[in-house]
Amino acid sequence: MRKISFFDTTLRDGEQTPGVNLNLREKVEIARELALMGVDTIEAGFPASSQGSFNAVLEVAKEIKGVQVAGLCRAVAGDVQRAWEALRYADAPRIHIVIATSERHMLYKLRMSEEEVTEAAIKAIKTAKSYCSSVQFSAEDASRSDPAFLCRILYKAVAAGATVVNIPDTVGYATPAEYAALIAYVREHVDNIDKARIAAHCHNDLGMATANTLAAVSAGAEQVEVTINGIGERAGNAALEEVAMALNTRADFYDCEHNINTTHINRVCRLVSKYSGLEIAAGKAIIGDNAFRHQSGIHQHGVLTDRETYQIMTPESIGRYSGEQFVLGKLSGWHAFGDKLAELGFHLPENEIKSLFERFKLLADRKKEVTAKDIIAIVEGKMGDVKPVVELENYQILSANNVNSTATVCLDRGGERLQMAAIAGGPIDAAYKAITEMLGLELSLESYAIKAVTEGADALGEVTVRVKYNGSVYLGKGVATDVIKSSMLAYINAVNRIYADMIIKE
Ligand code: KIV
Ligand code: ZN
Repeated sequence: MRKISFFDTTLRDGEQTPGVNLNLREKVEIARELALMGVDTIEAGFPASSQGSFNAVLEVAKEIKGVQVAGLCRAVAGDVQRAWEALRYADAPRIHIVIATSERHMLYKLRMSEEEVTEAAIKAIKTAKSYCSSVQFSAEDASRSDPAFLCRILYKAVAAGATVVNIPDTVGYATPAEYAALIAYVREHVDNIDKARIAAHCHNDLGMATANTLAAVSAGAEQVEVTINGIGERAGNAALEEVAMALNTRADFYDCEHNINTTHINRVCRLVSKYSGLEIAAGKAIIGDNAFRHQSGIHQHGVLTDRETYQIMTPESIGRYSGEQFVLGKLSGWHAFGDKLAELGFHLPENEIKSLFERFKLLADRKKEVTAKDIIAIVEGKMGDVKPVVELENYQILSANNVNSTATVCLDRGGERLQMAAIAGGPIDAAYKAITEMLGLELSLESYAIKAVTEGADALGEVTVRVKYNGSVYLGKGVATDVIKSSMLAYINAVNRIYADMIIKE
């Protein structure tokens, strides 16, 4: 059976999604989860593009073991050297070199001839090769390149030492049949192609990224380049969860194996959604809220009689917990709570379980039944928290129709007790105004979203905010049964990320 390797570029192409700004800690945590999930290569960033990206590649290379770590660079010596400086501590480093090969890109973007592009690519590959054995060459905009030139440059790239050659559909223009034909053409016309693996990297501008990636696999590609939730430039990349589940569910058709443990999908997709601030659409394949729901009575009856009448995959195969029943109560001890966390896929150290248990007890006091969803919300609300500088002590809100609202908020800032009252059109507005004035920071609220994460009148409400400070946008999340409280917690969470950034920069 052919083995397909998964190259995840959530931290590089995925981070190029407009509005997404992952911090170092979030990137390392995502990388850790990707490695646990069985991804073969993690592209952790583009080291020469910024100090932040360099640090991310360096940290992932140092901390995440047992997986290959890649860094992107342009075909210039400085970029290659910078990539190597970031990658050299990795268990298995890979330098990834990209240069455009389509006429349009060469003419208008690079202002280089075919010969100049080829020379730059070969020089960069040879430099990279002097640092590490695994070198990937990407011919940007390959699907709109002259196939004959593409084959000539790929031949020279492999001869210079490239171990993976990537044929990106950079602008998401190709159809599955065209893309498969291009992969087949390369296999046929690049004489030394047996010395390298062919990679497929597809963008989703026409909604065909996953279909194109799978068509490439059928045509002989052995590496798929994907992102979690399909995030990425413009309309995004092929989604890891879609490609992996298609290869599994239609193993009869694709007949190949891979290392992805799909039971991690639900958790990793939710983690990336949380850190990127990009909600997963209800109808999103594999991972959307509706992916395993049946509305029509005929469908429901069919599934109850024989699941496979309308379900081609099980929720459990992606690690989705389908039970809604009562799982724990306020009399449950922390051991039982820890066991339930493990059952839900969260294997955490004792000190973290104990700290989460405190939150569970507070919730169990307020809610009659604590469900699996509540527990997941508690864990995810806490996961990735920065060490708080500011904490909500207490608050009082006065709100009625036809009059302004008043908020009195009391905060603890590193041991110092602060209090402020403010008046505004609505209760949340007033609370945010009080917090902003009290902290003396110039903050502007860029976006605010609220959703119920559990069912019923006592549901947990989750608020996501984006707050702008000093030119950067910071994400904040808050979860509570009271939506005004979750709104304040989200705002304070964003503030704590600002403080964490200030501490790193000091
Ligand atoms: O879309 C693209 O062409 C890329 C390359 C860097 C591989 O992201
Ligand atoms: Zn891309």
